[in-house]
Amino acid sequence: MTDRVIIFDTTLRDGEQSPGASMNTAEKMRLATQLEKLGVDIMEAGFPAASEGDFEAVSKIAEKLKQVEVAALARTSKDDIDRAWGAVQHAAKPRIHTFIATSDIHMEYKLKMSRDEVLTTAIEAVKYAKSFTENVEFSSEDGSLSDRDFLCKVFEAAIEAGATTVNLPDTVGYAIPQEFGSLVQYVGAHTPNIHKAVLSVHCHNDLGLATANTLAAIKSGARQAEVTINGIGERAGNTSLEEVVMALHTRPNFLDAATHIRTDQIFSTSRLVSMITGIIVQPNKAIVGANAFAHEAGIHQDGVLKNPMTYEIMKPETIGLSTNKLILGKHSGRHALHSHLKEMGYDLSDEELNLVFTKFKELADKKKHVVDEDLEVIVTERILRTTDVFRLEYLHVISGTTVLPMASVELSINERPVRGAGYGNGPIDAVYNTIAKLTGATSELLRFSVSALTGGTDALGEVTVRLRENGLIALGKGADPDIITASAKAYINGLNRLEYLKAHPLKASEGL
Ligand code: KIV
Ligand code: ZN
Repeated sequence: MTDRVIIFDTTLRDGEQSPGASMNTAEKMRLATQLEKLGVDIMEAGFPAASEGDFEAVSKIAEKLKQVEVAALARTSKDDIDRAWGAVQHAAKPRIHTFIATSDIHMEYKLKMSRDEVLTTAIEAVKYAKSFTENVEFSSEDGSLSDRDFLCKVFEAAIEAGATTVNLPDTVGYAIPQEFGSLVQYVGAHTPNIHKAVLSVHCHNDLGLATANTLAAIKSGARQAEVTINGIGERAGNTSLEEVVMALHTRPNFLDAATHIRTDQIFSTSRLVSMITGIIVQPNKAIVGANAFAHEAGIHQDGVLKNPMTYEIMKPETIGLSTNKLILGKHSGRHALHSHLKEMGYDLSDEELNLVFTKFKELADKKKHVVDEDLEVIVTERILRTTDVFRLEYLHVISGTTVLPMASVELSINERPVRGAGYGNGPIDAVYNTIAKLTGATSELLRFSVSALTGGTDALGEVTVRLRENGLIALGKGADPDIITASAKAYINGLNRLEYLKAHPLKASEGL
C-alpha cells in the first residue's frame, strides 16, 4: 500500500525569512486560507516570540482555520514556548514546534552548551510544550551536520519526553541526496522508539538540492516533508512544496508515497505567494515557472501535437493551469463577482465587496476578460493592504520624444492628501522622484522589473521593485494595465513594506 507523506508548510514562517518578504497580518490570513484549500496537513504560521506582529498573525490564523493543524515555532526557552502556546491555543488542531541545535559547531560557538546540556534542554522543552498540547514537534537544528549517534540519542529522548514528530533539518543546505537518505535510514534504525513518532525532514536549497534531499529522505522512510510554496525561505530557500508533491504524484511507482495536496490549487497558490511577498518566480522554475509547460523547439512542439506524452511528463491542468477559470467581463454583476471571490477564498464584507466591485468595473472597461489573477491583484491592493501608510490617489505623466518627462502625483499619507510634481530622465524616473519628494523616502532602488501578468496586449503589467533603507530590505509589487501606474504602485508598496518593517522590529531572530 502507498504510504502517506505529511505536508508541513512553512511558507508563513521560514518562507517569510526570505530577504524582503515580510507580509502583513491580512496578507498572512489570505495565504493561510489558500494553504488550507491547497490541502496542506500542517501550516507553520509563524514564530510568535519574534515580534508582536508574528504573535498576532499566528493567533488569528489559529482562531480562523478549522481543518488544518496550525504550528507555532519556539526555541527551547519557557518564554518562547509560552508565546507559541499563547498564539496557537485556540486552534482546532494546535502544534508546538520547538528546536535546538545539535551540531558540535552550533553547540560550541552559538549556544555555548555541552552535549549533555543540549540533551537536557531538549527534554525539558518537549515536556514543557507537552504540558500544553499532545501535539509537539522537536527539531534538531543543523541535524545533518550533527554527530549521528548524538542525533539519535536526542531524538530518542525527545520522543520519550513526548514529541510526536521529530524533524531532521539540513539547516545550511549542505547535504547530498545519497548521504541525506542514508542519514535518515540510520536515524530510523538507531532511534529505538522512532516508531512512536513521525520522522520529518526540513531541507534548505543552498546547493540546489533541497527537493532531491527531501525525496531521498522520503525514499528512506521520512514521512513528513517541511516545504514552502515556490521554495521561498532563508537564503537560497527551502524545499519547494510543488516540486515534492508533483514528484510524488508523477513517480508513484518509484517513490511509493503520496500526499493529500489538491494539485489543481498549486498554480494559484504559487501566484498568490509571489504577489503577496513580491518575490518573482523564475521563468524556468520547475512546475510553476512561466516556461515550465512551454515548448520552444520545433521538434518538441511537433511531438507534443502528435502526443503530449512525448515531452510532457505532467499535464498543466493537474497544477490548475488553464482550467477552472471563470472569466468575468464588464457585464458581470455584483452577485457573480461575490460568489466567484468566495470560491477563490475571499469572504468579503459588503463594504469590501463594493470597493472591489468598483475596481473590477474599472478594469473590465479597459480589459475584455478579467481572470482570477486580475481579481487577486484587486483584492490584494484594495483589501489586504489596508494598513498602508502611503496610497496612490492620482497620477498624470507627460512623456514623449520631445518633452522633458514630468509627473504630477497625489498621494494620501496616513489618509492626509499631498500633491506634487517632478521631472526625470524618463516617465518612471519622474514618477519615482516625485513620490520620493512627497514621502521623504531615502531608500535605494536595488532592482526594478516589469512583466505581463496574463497573455494579450491588454494584460496587466506587473512591476516588482526591491528597496533598501538602513539595512532593511523590502520588495514591492504593483499591477495595472498602464505600466507607469504599475511602477508607481510597486514603489509605494515597497515603501509601505519598509514602514511595516520599521514598525515591527524583530525581537528574536537569533538562532534561526
Ligand atoms: O532550518 C532549520 O533548521 C529550521 C529549524 C527551525 C527547523 O528552520
Ligand atoms: Zn529552516
